[in-house]
Amino acid sequence: MNVLDLAQRRHSPRAFSGQALAWEDLVPAFEAARLSSSSYNNQPWRFMVGLKGEAGFDALLDTAVEANRSWMKDAGAIVGVVSSGVLEKTGEPDHAAMYGVGMAVNAMEFTFVAQGLTSMQAGGFDRKAFGELAGLPYHHTPIALLAVGHAPEGHTPSPKVRKDLDDIVFKVGDRIPG
Ligand SMILES: Cc1cc2nc3c(=O)[nH]c(=O)nc-3n(C[C@H](O)[C@H](O)[C@H](O)COP(=O)(O)O)c2cc1C
Repeated sequence: MNVLDLAQRRHSPRAFSGQALAWEDLVPAFEAARLSSSSYNNQPWRFMVGLKGEAGFDALLDTAVEANRSWMKDAGAIVGVVSSGVLEKTGEPDHAAMYGVGMAVNAMEFTFVAQGLTSMQAGGFDRKAFGELAGLPYHHTPIALLAVGHAPEGHTPSPKVRKDLDDIVFKVGDRIPG
């Protein structure tokens, strides 16, 4: 599968089979994240993992808002995604930290697709509760819960709803509409 195939196949399933995943199922995606580029090579991504069947899974699930809990409970694992907001070498703010974390998570999601798994991010969760659960240092920001697992039998992805290329790509001299 080339990268465009992966982008076309990746979708937010809002449903999982309930089958648990093992740590080894997640390692290729974490490796893809680890190899991502980042501003100053600061590598701002941090991940907090709960595998289905472990207390950590239920603890992460409990931080999700009800609407997200309804489908996330059937994921095989939940990964709490965290951004470290300080440049390690200087102690200055890392203004590109969340950008870097997003790139790393995209690499993870493509890796899951290539493995025949499916994943979905959720920003609807209690960040304060997550921060307490994870014991986050002050400059770390919870970004999302990333649910991963197997799609249910017969699952059909919803059609992609996207802007056209003309709405997002411009040439110098064009005006980007507000
Ligand atoms: C950072 C982030 C947070 C999201 N939060 C939620 C959420 O809390 N609940 C939800 O149902 N979908 C959530 N989504 C899924 C988006 O709605 C979805 O990605 C978008 O509609 C495009 O659909 P697709 O992922 O199937 O291509 C989130 C996606 C991202 C990337």
